[in-house]
Amino acid sequence: KTVTYNLTATWVQANPDGCHERRVIGVNNVWPPPTIEVDKGDTLVVHFTNGLDDRNSTIHWHGLYQNGTADMDGPSMVSQCPVAPGASVVYNFTVNQNGTYWYHAHVPSQYPDGFRGAFIVHDKEAYFADMYDEELVLPLSEWYHDEMQVLVPKFMSLYNPSGAEPIPQNLLFNETMNSTIHVKPNTTYLIRLINIGAFVSQYFWIEDHDFQIVEVDGVYTEPSTADLIYITAAQRYSILLTTKNTTDKNYAIGTRMDDNMLDLIPEDLLLNQTNWLGYNDDKSDYHNADPSLKDLTAPFDDFYLVPHDKQGILPEPDHEIVVDVSMDNLDDGVNYAFFNNITYTRPKVPTLYTVLSAGDDATNSLVYGEFTHTVVLEHMDVIQIVVNNADTGTHPFHLHGHEFQVINRSPSYGDDDPTPYDPESSDNPPFPDIPMRRDTVYLRPSGHMVLRFRADNPGVWLFHCHIEWHLEQGLVLTFVEAPKIIQEQTNVRPDHWAACADLSVPTTGN
Ligand code: C2O
Repeated sequence: KTVTYNLTATWVQANPDGCHERRVIGVNNVWPPPTIEVDKGDTLVVHFTNGLDDRNSTIHWHGLYQNGTADMDGPSMVSQCPVAPGASVVYNFTVNQNGTYWYHAHVPSQYPDGFRGAFIVHDKEAYFADMYDEELVLPLSEWYHDEMQVLVPKFMSLYNPSGAEPIPQNLLFNETMNSTIHVKPNTTYLIRLINIGAFVSQYFWIEDHDFQIVEVDGVYTEPSTADLIYITAAQRYSILLTTKNTTDKNYAIGTRMDDNMLDLIPEDLLLNQTNWLGYNDDKSDYHNADPSLKDLTAPFDDFYLVPHDKQGILPEPDHEIVVDVSMDNLDDGVNYAFFNNITYTRPKVPTLYTVLSAGDDATNSLVYGEFTHTVVLEHMDVIQIVVNNADTGTHPFHLHGHEFQVINRSPSYGDDDPTPYDPESSDNPPFPDIPMRRDTVYLRPSGHMVLRFRADNPGVWLFHCHIEWHLEQGLVLTFVEAPKIIQEQTNVRPDHWAACADLSVPTTGN
């Protein structure tokens, strides 16, 4: 069937943490934006209007491959021109995946102002479909009292030479704070956790309850019991939670910022937030639990998840890309992020349009310009990406258009001891036979990881750190996958998009 949504981005006032009212980006004059829901196999048609009078916008469908519809992926200046104030576009694609996704603006530094929501693909055939009674969606994020247009210029300034990221004021839980999930006893819930935040990873746990992980980033996994999850920006976990058989007590749901990611921890910053699993409204024990007592040293390690389809490791790579991640200052005194000494700069023409107009030259990465850091991939090759972290931060990397197998991931190493991947090293654990797969995976401080995927989806796909600050700093590379095939796909044509002519006038009113 076809599912249609009309989404108009609009400024609205909101006070999600109850401490500070501000302007946020909502949809159809409401914040938070709606959850989009489809069934597997549906065609989704979204009529998107940019109702923001002061800036361009686009929507990206995080985790959806856009197989055959690479022009619907959403990143500005990659697969489309940005949508100018007052302009509209139609996103139209078929969803052949299942599970938990989300959508967000994909022009620089916009979604942390509120323009993000859950995207759920229901699947009656899911192996766990009969294992739960009720379902709920639980977005997590961090929240800033200032708008991005205030935070970004300070962050990308010569007065911030160390590149210290802005510190959020609070963690949100279902886009609010200190809220209660009301549950019934003896009932199993499918809870879809989505970190729709832009920076900090969160620890998530429920006092005195275990749960089973059954999906990560749209990939069904063998059920894995956990009591503590570490969820980075852009990651998703579906968990099955079976409630207790009595209503004698209510329990805390704890979330905590990964404070290792913060350069400076203000004294008044609450790292922990408490929400509640409410069995019984008559009980007065809501505020008794102390979430800071949870031992956070051993969160569930997603590396050991096994996909339910038991897909084996891809064969030896046809094409290996080794990238070193670093942060450094350029001549302007501003701190930038680099993959192999290249900091991404948006091209003047969306890279997909260059593919379509470059003829035979489309296979030559030089036509895309040095600063898009473009790597051309051949159709059906096995691609291996080795990422070495010369930086002391945690980076959640996301690949558009694919999920990847995670075949090696090191522990974190000390600040002065970045340890690149050495294929010859006898310390390397053997690659798993059935590697875990997902679309967003974190790289530990000073560590390394090895990812594999098959280039079976022609399109232009970004690979980037999903920390919005690091995206702003340029931690991005571009894959142009099977450009000759893209040229033959007659539906992938930019003429149904607005021209890029309005790029230089982001302040034009409606
Ligand atoms: Cu969530 Cu480039 O995307």
